[in-house]
Amino acid sequence: MYPAFVVSPMDFSLSTLSEKFKQLASSFSVKDGESVLGIDIGTSSIKIVQVKEVKGSAVLETYGEIALGPYANAEVGQSVMPPPEKIGEALKDVLREANATAKVGGFSVPLSGSLINVITLPTKDHADLATMIPIEARKYIPVPITEVALDWFVIPDEEAKFLSPQGGAAKSDHSTDVLLVAIHNAVLAKYQLVTEAAAITPRFFEVEPFSMGRASYEHTTAPAMIIDMGASSTRVYIIEFGIIDVSHTIGRGGQDLTLSLAKSMGATFQEAENIKRDKGLSESEVGSAALDFIFAEARRILLTYQRKEGKAVSQVVLVGGGASLKGLKEVASRSFDARIVIASPFEKLAAPAFISDVLKGAGPSFASAVGLALRALHQ
Ligand SMILES: Nc1ncnc2c1ncn2[C@@H]1O[C@H](COP(=O)(O)OP(=O)(O)OP(=O)(O)O)[C@@H](O)[C@H]1O
Ligand SMILES: [Mg+2]
Repeated sequence: MYPAFVVSPMDFSLSTLSEKFKQLASSFSVKDGESVLGIDIGTSSIKIVQVKEVKGSAVLETYGEIALGPYANAEVGQSVMPPPEKIGEALKDVLREANATAKVGGFSVPLSGSLINVITLPTKDHADLATMIPIEARKYIPVPITEVALDWFVIPDEEAKFLSPQGGAAKSDHSTDVLLVAIHNAVLAKYQLVTEAAAITPRFFEVEPFSMGRASYEHTTAPAMIIDMGASSTRVYIIEFGIIDVSHTIGRGGQDLTLSLAKSMGATFQEAENIKRDKGLSESEVGSAALDFIFAEARRILLTYQRKEGKAVSQVVLVGGGASLKGLKEVASRSFDARIVIASPFEKLAAPAFISDVLKGAGPSFASAVGLALRALHQ
């Protein structure tokens, strides 16, 4: 019912490129893989990415973003909570606008709706794990197992041997460490309404920092900090060996930058949002108080971690729409000694070279969606 306001990345619809993609795909002799989606439902917008495997490479077929504000009588860029049916409608709209054809995919869920544990199981046989895990999970999950959906990953031995005993990882030649993620059914019930409304079959639900991590940096043995700058809040994670060691929510996000800009200029939210996206911080330092607060908190979290663990965080990876702010890298580098990386998740996908600048600019907010799409290719 609502006119779909599609934010900038969609203005550059990949439909114009579909012919080129077809040529690209048909130039390979192997049979094409199935097209799959990564779907990230944020509080200010939905991001979708469709990929397909061609000759062992993950090829970007299309992508799109749609603001949720207009589905909840609010502005583009505002953080909103429309009912699931409205979110489903927005998802349908963005899939149509992007000419997405896939009907299956992975969805992200916030870390807050999940429980994560590292457990050790007395087998090396992956087939046994599938039967053991639901039984073993009961010991770790404080609610009936029927109230959660379980997801799990085997932690490779070379990574597991570094885990502390408190992490549950006591290695032996006959055991396997597993990262166990339980997502509460109440969270999934909402997604079910969304997926039904949009006629998409969810293949899995993944906790957000995992999908972001997969798409936004090269894993090293040193811990990395991921700062996800969303609309109403910023989430900070420290990840080591694929395990989330630390997670915090900072109660300021991109919306706060827009609000201070609007107030100081006497402009509407929409006008200020457009100025912020076009000009970034170079034109105006307004809004930087919110940014300073975010980085001061993130720095405090990083320093506390380093002191407690006696390890240095090697890189700070900025993701989320807020990470597209012009001039952000310079501001961030004042707060951290570590290498600052603005996530460029589309680099993980094959795409025509002439759109690489567009993809780089749009990249940070698609980190989750790209990570989900990459996992969906193999699941
Ligand atoms: N080019 C840009 N420059 C500055 N800020 C931007 C730019 N593009 C988007 N943003 C800001 O990014 C924020 C939205 O980020 P994102 O899409 O990651 O949030 P979300 O996923 O909807 O929210 P959340 O993760 O908190 O649920 C908004 O505040 C928006 O103004
Ligand atoms: Mg988000």
